[in-house]
Amino acid sequence: MFAPEDVKKALEKAQHLVVFTGAGVSAESGVPTFRDALTGLWENFDPEALATPEAFAENPDFVWGWYEWRRKLLLEVQPNPAHIAIAELAKRVPKFTLITQNVDDLHERAGSTDVLHLHGSLFTPRCFDCGRSYEFTQAPTLTKEQRITPPQCEHCSGNIRPGVVWFGESLPEAEFKAAFEAVQSCDLLLSVGTSGMVYPAAQLPEIAAQNNATVVHINPQKMSAITRHGYSLQGAAGEILPLLI
Ligand code: APR
Repeated sequence: MFAPEDVKKALEKAQHLVVFTGAGVSAESGVPTFRDALTGLWENFDPEALATPEAFAENPDFVWGWYEWRRKLLLEVQPNPAHIAIAELAKRVPKFTLITQNVDDLHERAGSTDVLHLHGSLFTPRCFDCGRSYEFTQAPTLTKEQRITPPQCEHCSGNIRPGVVWFGESLPEAEFKAAFEAVQSCDLLLSVGTSGMVYPAAQLPEIAAQNNATVVHINPQKMSAITRHGYSLQGAAGEILPLLI
């Protein structure tokens, strides 16, 4: 049985630590994950109707309203001990890379820098037509499933879209390239709070293992069922990660 003590030993020897996070790292802050039973976003909302460019083109008010609801939720929550421990871990190893699938800013608010956001961010909206970036001018003030007309692009009058990567879209090239290089050269990878179901991000822990890195999955679920690689440290990220520092 792999224990926090074993990770601590690996951390003491680590030359390059990669931390790879998913929605589970923000769960203890009150941010819903995607696939957890009952509470997950995709349990209650149809990803096809919300998280594709086609859905936005067809129903911009519905989709924009839903992402503004998520942005509002994020402005009401705080980083949790997992985010804070990860920011601290960065100072404890010679080389550190933080890769996240999350579109929230809780890693940055906990003090992490140079976070590689593979699935974009809720705080970097841009024009759906010309791609120019857009600055939010006010905090969202809506209730749950409200439709909101997206702002218009001042350059081309196109609809402003959320800065997230939707299903069917490619990942941001620079971030994915940097992430790929990091997992090929790291000697320890902590995969925290991800179901490992969405590719290509989900292949990153596997690539690290293929390059002889020690891979540890931190998740309340036993991860052996999902991935052939690495150790499983069962528990909540906000409880386990502070034990490592
Ligand atoms: N600590 C650690 N892990 C947790 C916690 C917690 N407190 N609570 C839940 N988890 C785990 C769940 O057991 C699950 O394995 O977090 C994982 C969350 O999985 P998903 O909801 O599938 O989220 P994620 O893996 O980040 O999804 C990947 O899918 O919908 C897309 O673009 C979206 O980035 C997202 C991608």
